[in-house]
Amino acid sequence: MQILSASLKAEGKTIGFVPTMGYLHKGHLSLIKKSKEKCDITIVSIFVNPTQFGPNEDLKKYPRDIERDKKLLKDYGVDYLYLPNEKEIYPKNFQTYVEVSNISKILEGEFRPTHFKGVTTIVSILFNSVNPDYSFFGQKDAQQAAIIRQMINDLKFNIKIIVCPIVREPDGLAMSSRNVYLSKNERTDALVLNKSLKIAAESIKRGETNSLKILNKMKKLIASVDSSKLDYVQVVEADSFILAKNLNKGKRYYFLIACKIGNTRLIDNILIEA
Ligand code: PAJ
Repeated sequence: MQILSASLKAEGKTIGFVPTMGYLHKGHLSLIKKSKEKCDITIVSIFVNPTQFGPNEDLKKYPRDIERDKKLLKDYGVDYLYLPNEKEIYPKNFQTYVEVSNISKILEGEFRPTHFKGVTTIVSILFNSVNPDYSFFGQKDAQQAAIIRQMINDLKFNIKIIVCPIVREPDGLAMSSRNVYLSKNERTDALVLNKSLKIAAESIKRGETNSLKILNKMKKLIASVDSSKLDYVQVVEADSFILAKNLNKGKRYYFLIACKIGNTRLIDNILIEA
């Protein structure tokens, strides 16, 4: 991968990189589209990264269909698929991890304490292998994108990060590889995440600046769905990812939700200017 990347760069080509765990959907494909617009060459990686799953999480049953993914990537005109195996990434004596301190501890980090350490480690390895000019991440995982941006700045990776908007199903459910776990009824119940984010947007439009009031309204709606079990609903300043109590006019905020519907844990968020 490094040799290929170097030879592409020697030809003066810019490289766009889209890291994924596969089971591709339109969310992933939107990142690929952006990369193809912006860069000469687009490289996609597929690697279901074991270090970002907790001991009781869904690593074993994480959906995989590599033949389907390969076909989609071909149809979308992706130049290269990087498909490393686990032994290559994590050989026997592997012992180096990358960790971003503060942002990794809150929100997702509180409920998945080892998750982001796994993400920043694998993304560092992939960055060093692919050595892209641009990398593309989804706002769907807004905290992940903020952490990668922090890591790029702190470790001085010479890579620009571009964050692309959330792609949703026509009824509002954010696309996710994990949506296949949902039963028919759960699939309907899952719409409550997006609906509660819309409450936040509407409240702010009406001039509400007290975030607690907004969060309480969102919680109430989520609690009205029997199959739901809320991990958190929170609001942070978009740039710093610091929790926000009062919303200041003209500033941008993320409202973020993590909620189980049945046994499936879903996340969603909305970026709003107050
Ligand atoms: P994965 O969940 O496969 O997501 C790959 C990329 O697609 C991420 O940047 C994610 O934010 C983006 N994405 C997922 N659903 C999206 C949607 N509905 N709209 C827009 N973008 C969406 O995120 C990971 O993999 C891993 O943590 C990874 C970064 C590959 C490291 O292992």
